[in-house]
Amino acid sequence: MQTKSIQVKGLQKSYKQLQVLKGVDFEVEKGSIFALLGSNGAGKTTVVKILSTLLKPDSGTVSVNGFDVAAKPDNVRQAVSLTGQFAAVDEVLTGRENLIMIAKLRHLKYPRQVADDLLKRFGLTDAANRKTSTYSGGMRRRLDIAMSLVGKPQLIFLDEPTTGLDPEARIETWKIVKELSDGGTTVFLTTQYLEEAEQLADRIAILHEGRIIAGGTLEELKKLFPPAKVEYVEKQPTLEEIFLAIIGKKEAI
Ligand SMILES: Nc1ncnc2c1ncn2[C@@H]1O[C@H](COP(=O)(O)OP(=O)(O)OP(=O)(O)O)[C@@H](O)[C@H]1O
Ligand SMILES: [Mg+2]
Repeated sequence: MQTKSIQVKGLQKSYKQLQVLKGVDFEVEKGSIFALLGSNGAGKTTVVKILSTLLKPDSGTVSVNGFDVAAKPDNVRQAVSLTGQFAAVDEVLTGRENLIMIAKLRHLKYPRQVADDLLKRFGLTDAANRKTSTYSGGMRRRLDIAMSLVGKPQLIFLDEPTTGLDPEARIETWKIVKELSDGGTTVFLTTQYLEEAEQLADRIAILHEGRIIAGGTLEELKKLFPPAKVEYVEKQPTLEEIFLAIIGKKEAI
């Protein structure tokens, strides 16, 4: 039984002169939540695009759901779904129409039923028949994630799923991500919010200067960073402190 949903080895990618990925290695277990952290421009979206077959790697091996992305992109596409960094909803259509469109594109048998179920699950039933141009940012994001769940993909990529959301919508999205993972879906997410990774991720990887410079569970990452002692109270470092310390340490070398 294949237990890895994603296996990446020696992944390199350049845009002309700019080498963004210089040899990226990581693995993601089936059914787990994996968070890729990194600063602006670190290459997170580039990794997501390669994993979801939108972009070709220059070198290295990348397998998703047991299929090589370069050799078997169609097999990969059938198993995955992507919610990009920028919402992909069609503003002229209503929420329901957007979902029905995707369900039809995916050749599902009962597109209306699929749409209504997802609208309900994402609290969008009341807004279902409104054009999405009238939706708030949070509602759009919810619709965006709902659209990526049409057809029950085994692996879902969420590129900064909560950027621009208010705290309530963010917590709601976290709930959905946890439910997905509880249901056996593998979730690969990128985020700039370190708290998000702390809340959600089974494993975390930090992408910096083209490589994964640290990876593991939150507990393992915490061990890389000795707890600061404040008088008699032991202070646990936040992921933010760990992140900054790791990046800072690397730059000093
Ligand atoms: N199509 C492209 N052509 C040229 N350069 C690109 C292209 N796409 C991305 N880049 C550059 O590659 C680097 C990595 O970009 P990428 O979008 O993967 O980063 P990111 O980690 O997702 O950043 P952010 O947190 O801002 O979303 C950046 O320097 C970016 O300017
Ligand atoms: Mg990005």
